[in-house]
Amino acid sequence: MSCQPIGLFDSGVGGLSVLCELKRQLPSENLIYFADTIHMPYGPRTPENLKRIVFGILRFLEEQKVKLVIMACNTSSAVVLPSAKEAFALPIIGMIEPVIEQVVRLQIERLGVMATEATVRSGTYERELRRAGFSGYVHCQPCPELASLIEDGEDEHRLATALQCYSSPLRKAQVEQVVLGCTHYPFAKEEIQAALGPDVLLLDPAIHVVAAAKRLLEQKQLLCQADAPGSSVAYVSGDLASFERRAKQLLGYTIDAQPVRYQENSGAYNL
Ligand code: DGL
Repeated sequence: MSCQPIGLFDSGVGGLSVLCELKRQLPSENLIYFADTIHMPYGPRTPENLKRIVFGILRFLEEQKVKLVIMACNTSSAVVLPSAKEAFALPIIGMIEPVIEQVVRLQIERLGVMATEATVRSGTYERELRRAGFSGYVHCQPCPELASLIEDGEDEHRLATALQCYSSPLRKAQVEQVVLGCTHYPFAKEEIQAALGPDVLLLDPAIHVVAAAKRLLEQKQLLCQADAPGSSVAYVSGDLASFERRAKQLLGYTIDAQPVRYQENSGAYNL
């Protein structure tokens, strides 16, 4: 048994959708959430730039002595996960593999994926689907503005307009299910459902990712078996007050948040 924290990170509030699921499936675990809001959005960034940023976050989480990292960010999982697994001794779980296993199990024939530009450009979803034996049709739809609109949470009209545009190719392709391939998107589930129409099922990877994390911790005998609920703390690289405000709106409670400073020269994040 180990009550060392689980670390998870995202460019902003999106990964809180994974934090909610962690609290549901693994309530005794202590959690460290890293919100890299100074670099939000990740979607337009190059693989080299994302690698530098994500490696800095992983070094920070390593210093906090986490026992496992969940990349609560599809963009990082799509672009940086293989190199991160090579470079760090920490166990690291990404957002993509567990949901792909589920898609194959469900024998879906026409699949849609909504994701950031960097995730779609990486081709990771298609590649991993084929590798897992998926033989159906897949349409990966880049949604360039969507994560930022959800992060800001201020413009419902722009959100609806953007969703009309992103959902149109998916409706034309007559997909049966759509993977919410960015951790921000579950926070706009109702709006996305309205844009896609009632017959399309939405798949939130978080449930499967947390189930995979639980299995891994069980195997390594690292589950925290304390009776009391675990603690959560957030570290934020950008504006603390904006993060706290938006996190409270989305979670319905206040999360203890602390600032971290990003050092441009070294790529390090410091308390
Ligand atoms: N929430 C992230 C993801 O899952 C990143 C969104 C962004 O910063 O562009 O892809």
